[in-house]
Amino acid sequence: MANDSGETDLWLFGYGSLIWKPPPHYDLRVPGYIEGYVRRFWQASEDHRGTPEAPGRVVTLIAREHWETLTDHHASAPPKVWGAAYRIPSTHVAEVKEYLDIREINGYSIQYTPFTPANQSTLPTLSSKPSNGNPISQGLITHPPPHPSPSSSSSSSPPSAQINCLVYIGLPNNPQFLGPQNPQLLAEHIAQSQGPSGLNSEYLYQLEKALDALSEESGDEHVWDLARRCREVERGEKGKVEKGEVE
Ligand code: BEZ
Repeated sequence: MANDSGETDLWLFGYGSLIWKPPPHYDLRVPGYIEGYVRRFWQASEDHRGTPEAPGRVVTLIAREHWETLTDHHASAPPKVWGAAYRIPSTHVAEVKEYLDIREINGYSIQYTPFTPANQSTLPTLSSKPSNGNPISQGLITHPPPHPSPSSSSSSSPPSAQINCLVYIGLPNNPQFLGPQNPQLLAEHIAQSQGPSGLNSEYLYQLEKALDALSEESGDEHVWDLARRCREVERGEKGKVEKGEVE
């Protein structure tokens, strides 16, 4: 909906850290998916999960036409990229864009893509961010009244079948884009990386957990496999420390 200055609400799709670390000021969070892309840990992170000297690895989206020209070790690429869309009220759009530009820069650029809410039958709803507790575990769409009031204002009216969403993508021509990665080496790299936002492995595990919580079909084999390998690497490292083989 447009405010007095003609600004409209912003819908933002998160497929990485935004799934479990929402943007400020959102008033609605909707699990769902976009199509035409493949999620991969093919973006170097110098600012969040790594440093310029030792970049970590985070996700980006690869347009399917491009992905199909590549040789990927994880051949399975689900047709849907699951994540969460957030509605930012028009009054806060400028502030949130500024916040996100700071948070998400490092190779990512702004794209727009249609987003499909997972559960169209439970919309409309106006699921406010809870005032206490974890907004992700508690802030999924609340069940709507069975019959929406016809007089609802457009700001609380149902998202239509698809919503045009802003999405941050590290395109193949950005300097941080790495391209296809050997899964074992990638997992080992993630296991040893960290940056100002914390351990790279924590990012991977949070993503795995957040995806599993979105829907019964939102798991991503690329993420699961990396998380499994990363845990194995960490167990091996822990075992070596316990045996006194390393400090
Ligand atoms: C995301 O969650 O969608 C995201 C987060 C950081 C950078 C790019 C995308």
